[in-house]
Amino acid sequence: MDALEAFSEYEAAAIEAFRAATSAEELESARVEFLGQKKGRLRDLQKAVGKSKPEDRPVVGKKFNEVKQRVGQLLEERQAELDQPAAALTAIDLTLPGEPLVLGRRHVITQTIDEFKELMGRFGFTAVEGPEIEDETHNFVALNIPEEHPARDPLDNFYFAAAEAAAGGPVLLRSQTSTVQIRVMEQSKPPIRIVSLGRVYRPDKIDDTHHFMFHQMEGLMVGDDVTMAQLKTVLSLFAKSYLGDDVEVRFRPSFFPFTEPSVEVDVSWQGGWMEIGGAGMVDPNVLRAVGYDPEEVSGFAFGLGIERFCMRRHNITDIRRFHENNVRFLSQF
Ligand code: DAH
Repeated sequence: MDALEAFSEYEAAAIEAFRAATSAEELESARVEFLGQKKGRLRDLQKAVGKSKPEDRPVVGKKFNEVKQRVGQLLEERQAELDQPAAALTAIDLTLPGEPLVLGRRHVITQTIDEFKELMGRFGFTAVEGPEIEDETHNFVALNIPEEHPARDPLDNFYFAAAEAAAGGPVLLRSQTSTVQIRVMEQSKPPIRIVSLGRVYRPDKIDDTHHFMFHQMEGLMVGDDVTMAQLKTVLSLFAKSYLGDDVEVRFRPSFFPFTEPSVEVDVSWQGGWMEIGGAGMVDPNVLRAVGYDPEEVSGFAFGLGIERFCMRRHNITDIRRFHENNVRFLSQF
């Protein structure tokens, strides 16, 4: 039966066209094409009904009405769908892959600090903190750094001119964590075994190995009979623990106002030596400044650059990377 075939073809084409319409305008032109009264496909079908054999006509006519009604219904459904675009968009598609969950992490310097604290803790050193804003007593005077010493040059430090009056004297961002040695000794009696890890500030020109803010680990051990040999043991155990068992420590004679004798400390690294900081036996003047008797107690101290260790171990060649907050860099650690 030709007419019946034409009906199902018409219905399939209408379903297709309604589905393809994604706007009210598109759907309206599909409506005109499939359900328009004056011309279009419905008129053609009607003509086909008229041409069918008289005895078939009741059946064909009934089918025509049915298909017309169904297509009208489909149009309404599609109209309703297009009226609610938001609902269509928020419908959950359970077959889509989930969104990746991005976890934050601690900054690589923070991780290094925590690891250092843990390592030094094994040697009996307790981690303590000190303020980043300091007075001259703790940053210089008690550390035996005299007035005319170049380290006190205002151009080499971050002084707060505006805060001076309120503080009753010059204040600055600490230029070294050695300040914490003084704060600890002022508040407690020997034996002392502490480390202090934190930020220090110097108005250095920034390049791949210098920044105006970096981190140091200060160490201080004071007691009845503390020796240079113990200092060497502690530093080499520390360096081996962090950088590897084959690492060696070398002391070079040097000068710091707060230690006597003073050394610069190198560790062997990739066939050469890398400088990791300064150290020495606490100067008697420093012990006296905090009320200790240099005849009774002795001590060693050291100050190490944290970035320096961290950069070596992770092969980081530019200190600026630590401060750029580039997630692709930071997420490697
Ligand atoms: N404070 C020194 C600096 O920042 C490093 C240092 C050297 C610390 C010798 C010490 C020390 O405790 O004994 O350059």
